[in-house]
Amino acid sequence: MDKSTVQRFLDGMKYEAGRTAPPESFPSLPDIPAGRYTDPRFLILEREHLWRRSWLYACHMDELPTPGSFVVSRKTGSPIIIVRGKDGTVRAFYNTCRHRGGPLVKTENGCAEGFVCGYHGWTYSLDGRLINLRDKRDFVGLNMSERSLTSVRCERFYSWVFINEDPQAQPLMEHFAPFGEYFQQFQPDTWRLVTKEGFDVKCNVKVLMDAFLEVYHLKSIHANTVDRFLDHRGTTIALYRNGLSLMVTPNRRPDWQDPGTRGMRAVETATVISARNNPSFNFYPNLVTPVDPTGCPFLLFWPTSDRSMRIECHWFAPDWGPGPLPEGWKVRIANFDRILDEDLQFAEQIQQSLESPGFRGIPLNYQERRIYHWHEELDRRIGIERIPPELRVQPRLEPLWEN
Ligand code: FES
Ligand SMILES: [Fe+2]
Repeated sequence: MDKSTVQRFLDGMKYEAGRTAPPESFPSLPDIPAGRYTDPRFLILEREHLWRRSWLYACHMDELPTPGSFVVSRKTGSPIIIVRGKDGTVRAFYNTCRHRGGPLVKTENGCAEGFVCGYHGWTYSLDGRLINLRDKRDFVGLNMSERSLTSVRCERFYSWVFINEDPQAQPLMEHFAPFGEYFQQFQPDTWRLVTKEGFDVKCNVKVLMDAFLEVYHLKSIHANTVDRFLDHRGTTIALYRNGLSLMVTPNRRPDWQDPGTRGMRAVETATVISARNNPSFNFYPNLVTPVDPTGCPFLLFWPTSDRSMRIECHWFAPDWGPGPLPEGWKVRIANFDRILDEDLQFAEQIQQSLESPGFRGIPLNYQERRIYHWHEELDRRIGIERIPPELRVQPRLEPLWEN
């Protein structure tokens, strides 16, 4: 993050803390139609055009330590193997044998020399080529080179691996600009996986994700936690292309430090935006991360049905050296889980509300504009002409803050 961007956020926080109304140019936002959270027609479109066509986080390189290491992702329905090849390259394939669809791996992770289908023994190399075929003489005209595993786009944001089922997707680093440049300050290739955990929640995935795109709720549900150290009135927001956004919230006191991070190694190159404030990135659609120089959780929001979801927290930190994980992490994660519980407390009841005639739509304010931005992008991805008119959002937030 260059000096002028840092300054822009610092100036932004000062401006936000002092304003008495939204900027004059800020439009009145039409309500988000309620049906976007419940209408099966819309949720089918969302599945096809958002979840199956977006760059989605899959794993960290620590989870693929050696050639042959693999993990399986089933987040969008189709099982996908992410595997480190003999050449060190990470690739992704559908876990689907090209013969009659047998699974190639049956565990969620592991290490393999190659993939042997359990059904009739077709054998594939780690780079997906079909290399052996039982009773080849009985297939007439079968060309093995045409029967490689079906690949899925797989690219890296530093040591974080993402997949995308859309073969035409924009290259990852281009798609996530300017976050690639913003992340350099954290020396992200030195970061390691600390731990991960997940919780099932009975609400549409967007209900919970919305809560992580705004700080309007701090005074109510985080009165005894986050609100004590973050000043939501100074929050400044940058909206970018491809639905990305960054929200920076000032600490109440410039010298405040999360007690859970005391004694932990901090990256010295982090800017004041991260060292003395709280930046929260949204890698569209479903990855939110508040990055601190001592580490961060990747908060991932996955639909498990139209009315249920799973939130995962994958924690990362700058390399802590050869010893065991510093003790402080237990406290840090426990503190975070307490905040997460606060965020989860209404999710199920909000879902019930969404399905009640009492719920008509969502009026969003200036502080909540990242949610509107998120929905505008969703319509761009689905294609506005596919969406029933009563379920569309009206584009209002151009021009975006580009860097
Ligand atoms: S389904 Fe895989 S070998 Fe037949
Ligand atoms: Fe929250």
